[in-house]
Amino acid sequence: MVLTIHSLSNMTTAELEGKRVLVRVDFNVPLENGRISDDSRLEASLPTIQFLIDSHAKVILISHLGQPKAPSPELSLQPIAERLSGLLGRPVQFVAESVGELVEAAVSKMANEDVLLLENVRFHVGETQNDPDYSRQLASVADLFVQDAFGTAHRAHASTVGVSKYLPAYAGLLIEKEIEFLDGAIKSPKRPFVAIIGGSKVSGKLGVLRHLLGKVDVMVIGGAMTYTFLKAKGHSVGKSLWEPEKIGEALAFLADAKSSATKVVFPVDHVVVTELKPDAVSMIVDGGDIADNQMGVDVGPKTVALIEGEIYSAATILWNGPLGVVEIDAFSKGTFAVANALAQSDALTIVGGGDSAAAIVKAGLAGDMTHISTGGGAALEFLEGKTLPGIAALERGDV
Ligand code: 3PG
Repeated sequence: MVLTIHSLSNMTTAELEGKRVLVRVDFNVPLENGRISDDSRLEASLPTIQFLIDSHAKVILISHLGQPKAPSPELSLQPIAERLSGLLGRPVQFVAESVGELVEAAVSKMANEDVLLLENVRFHVGETQNDPDYSRQLASVADLFVQDAFGTAHRAHASTVGVSKYLPAYAGLLIEKEIEFLDGAIKSPKRPFVAIIGGSKVSGKLGVLRHLLGKVDVMVIGGAMTYTFLKAKGHSVGKSLWEPEKIGEALAFLADAKSSATKVVFPVDHVVVTELKPDAVSMIVDGGDIADNQMGVDVGPKTVALIEGEIYSAATILWNGPLGVVEIDAFSKGTFAVANALAQSDALTIVGGGDSAAAIVKAGLAGDMTHISTGGGAALEFLEGKTLPGIAALERGDV
């Protein structure tokens, strides 16, 4: 018996016409004062929704928003139904519940090609507990389940894993695309393959660094996690953020890096300040040592030039994590330089979610990337080589 993931893209109109299809999407969009500040995740869901509409199915969308433990009006999906309706160019009916009579009544009135959005699944305690009763209730109004919430596929919840026990389950078009780029690039990249991995904590990124070591030709390490590595190499890092308990693992990684085929590149200069505030006067420190009263907040110009050189000679580039304190404009120059160089490059450019994706969107460069992952934590776990439960749940035995 072979385990296989069945994909929506292989289904025919004859198989989908008139079917009630429950689709798990990730509409966990950023909100600023109650308004959607970035609708990339809504846009990323459109191909699957449109595919189902074109196949004359009835589309029932489910998602979470935020991390509520109980119903909370500010995390209702109602405003998202309105925005989605604008993007789709057709009505999206909102139902103020995710299970129960209201939902049953609304679904029973659906015509083919109708789109319905149910209320935030996390308003039910059964969602995060992957409760079988809640999963069964979600599944009860549908004939098929499509998992398209890549960003939530690392959560074993009722709407990402539980429902697939009660309905024939398929991967949506976004999940397929994410796997194609994040998995495909690592398994069979065009070379040279360059990974640029940033982020503040080495503890959050060691899994990715270890998984990519030996697979990529060049690995550039940036962001505050650099300082733990610098410390491990015996340098002084002043007041920079570093993780004392990770020195052992950092040393082990450096030892593995020496004997691997991957060239590991660390920053050669740093932007430093004495206080972390937007108007702090900054200096450039060359080499490894940062004075006791200083902290590193960004990569310096020589490092930027070094990274640009690696980007322009690459055929595939994977970027995950900022290279400085992106919350402060003055210290996000290294991060935006990488974003711009990726946009200029002819290589296949893959951006692994979270802060790096946000930087690309902020720079208005999203259209210049080959793929920007919709996953933050999910993309990270994927890049660590972990199995995501929301994808594993789609596997079925084929005889
Ligand atoms: C995300 O934004 O990373 C996903 O939507 C998952 O959200 P969560 O961390 O609240 O589970």
